[in-house]
Amino acid sequence: MMHRSLHYYSRVNMPLKLELIAAACENMGIGINGDLPWRLKTEMAYFTHMTTDTEDKNKKNVVLMGRHTWECIPEKYRPLENRINMVLTSQSLDYGDKAITCKSIPHAIELITEMQNQIERVWVIGGSKVYKNAMESPYFGRLYLTRIKKEFECDTFFPPIPNNFVLIKDPAVPQDIQEEKGIQFVYEVYEKDN
Ligand SMILES: NC(=O)c1ccc[n+]([C@@H]2O[C@H](COP(=O)([O-])OP(=O)(O)OC[C@H]3O[C@@H](n4cnc5c(N)ncnc54)[C@H](OP(=O)(O)O)[C@@H]3O)[C@@H](O)[C@H]2O)c1
Repeated sequence: MMHRSLHYYSRVNMPLKLELIAAACENMGIGINGDLPWRLKTEMAYFTHMTTDTEDKNKKNVVLMGRHTWECIPEKYRPLENRINMVLTSQSLDYGDKAITCKSIPHAIELITEMQNQIERVWVIGGSKVYKNAMESPYFGRLYLTRIKKEFECDTFFPPIPNNFVLIKDPAVPQDIQEEKGIQFVYEVYEKDN
């Protein structure tokens, strides 16, 4: 896979882009029985800091997810704190002030655009169809993918990564091999090669 290194740039005032973040095992699984197939605290901490941190302290990031993913988050951790939670659903659901519901990705983009001055980054956090739609969207920006170097039994999978995606380096992302509970994993970042 070709590597392209980038200069780090300020995200403040960056035009709207969807940034995907996912962890997948060797068989590209991401979930089982409405849960994660693994418990990796370091990986979870990486997810939290990547999706929460902002350069501009007056702004927040969005976490955009499918309804199942929302339901998979234990109630005590819902909404994901210090982030604007948005849930995709075709149903008329009301999560009160915990999360904003949206009917489609274009609808989510419309709502995000209305709040754009309060938002720094838009993180798409799953599941399968949401990742697929976001990778096909003209708003696709980056894919942050943790590759877990082990097979797990899964019932939900990350969609195929398009051929024109290339690995890049983000200085915010550790390059070295991570290890927890004897399980190795690496943090990868992809962009679309135009
Ligand atoms: N490893 C990881 O990084 C990771 C990340 C996220 C999730 N997961 C795992 O993945 C599993 C959940 O993912 P999933 O793929 O089953 O479900 P999901 O994508 O979270 O949720 C699917 C639901 O979201 C709604 N939805 C999705 N796309 C939509 C769209 N474009 N427009 C309107 N509504 C849309 C629909 O809700 P309605 O039925 O209400 O219409 C759909 O039934 C769990 O096991 C979870 O633990 C893993």
